[in-house]
Amino acid sequence: MQVKYLKPILVTSALVGLSQWSGLSLAQSADQLYKRGLAATCANCHGTDGKGVVDAGMPLINNLTSEQMLAKLKAYKSGALEGTIMPQLAKGYSDEQLITIANQLGKKQ
Ligand code: HEC
Repeated sequence: MQVKYLKPILVTSALVGLSQWSGLSLAQSADQLYKRGLAATCANCHGTDGKGVVDAGMPLINNLTSEQMLAKLKAYKSGALEGTIMPQLAKGYSDEQLITIANQLGKKQ
């Protein structure tokens, strides 16, 4: 297991610990885990949290706002935008999941 895959687990256990300490419900951290888990599927190619390696041949996606990212993902899904990988990948998610992913990974302004 590579170190980068440990990060979400560490973050999750930190969240669980924090939520117990602060009295937040466990349901909230499960929701966070689900959202982070969805976004983590993109990390293999685009890097953790979209912070990919510059000039490594993969588009960097951490410069996109959530709105821009969602627009691209929907365009890949509908076929309006062509690509090698993303059209197939985007079709695998519901619109709701794409919104969650775009909110999770998009640049916060
Ligand atoms: C197997 C590798 C791979 C995975 C996994 C992957 N992508 Fe991509 N992504 C690409 C490639 C390659 C492109 C360039 C377009 C193409 O060829 O499909 C791209 C393009 C994009 C773009 C457009 C970037 C731009 O500036 O035009 C966005 C946004 C994006 N991906 C988001 C995501 C999200 C969100 C996920 C997770 C749900 C994801 N990608 C998972 C390989 C991947």
